Amino acid sequence: MEIAVVADEQGVGRSAADVLEEALRHGCRRLGLATGSSPLATYAELVRRHREGLSFAEVDAYLLDEYVGLAPGHPESYARVIRRELTDAIDIDPARVHGPDGTARDPREAAAAYESLLGAVGGVDVQLLGIGTNGHIGFNEPGSSLGSRTRVKTLTLQTRLDNARFFASLGKVPVHVITQGLATISSAGHLLLVASGAHKAAAVAAALEGPVTASCPASVLQLHPHVTVVLDEAAARLLTRLDDYRQALLAKPRGWGW
Ligand code: GLP
Repeated sequence: MEIAVVADEQGVGRSAADVLEEALRHGCRRLGLATGSSPLATYAELVRRHREGLSFAEVDAYLLDEYVGLAPGHPESYARVIRRELTDAIDIDPARVHGPDGTARDPREAAAAYESLLGAVGGVDVQLLGIGTNGHIGFNEPGSSLGSRTRVKTLTLQTRLDNARFFASLGKVPVHVITQGLATISSAGHLLLVASGAHKAAAVAAALEGPVTASCPASVLQLHPHVTVVLDEAAARLLTRLDDYRQALLAKPRGWGW
């Protein structure tokens, strides 16, 4: 695991975009996308680089998760959010942006179908991740099995409160979601976690330096052989080995890449 700490959220976006651009230039064709606030600076930077020539024309994108029960086309459905924040502004074919179908009559079937799709393509090359204040990734809430696959989950009150800012009221935040499981996420070739802000510091410290436990779903990253974490100073402030992480990056020979 490599941990890069930069000054602020914009710096997180630039560094994460560096990781993704390098992956694209080295043949990444299946990109795992996250929603929420965390990746927005990264997406803004990717859009800027696209205007300067970075192409996504050969890429298939796969979403991590989706709300269940929002009307088709609801502005806060993750299918719409990713279009608004990224894919409408780059040269990716909209038919190549995939996600779980939160409008399906039986969301359990939709979850199984999405897991099958991911399995059939062999998983994604790089998966971008944010982290919830309770340590969730995707929508794998605390207690999620480290071996879990794509399925329907019930959101905790904490996550619904955290996400209520995107909806008219707490009551409008869906209770159920479809999310890639922790094992599904771990099937990616490379995991890229981004976090900014002091409100993420406790979750980041638990995930990166605490025990591997279903009580902190993001701690599953410790089991993955290729993880890059990009944090701003505020999100990194509770890490105990910050100096080691900085030294490791400073000592890294140029050209070794991410
Ligand atoms: C959301 C999403 C996650 C996201 C996390 C953090 O609910 N399902 O993919 O990483 O919670 O959200 P944010 O980035 O808005 O803080």
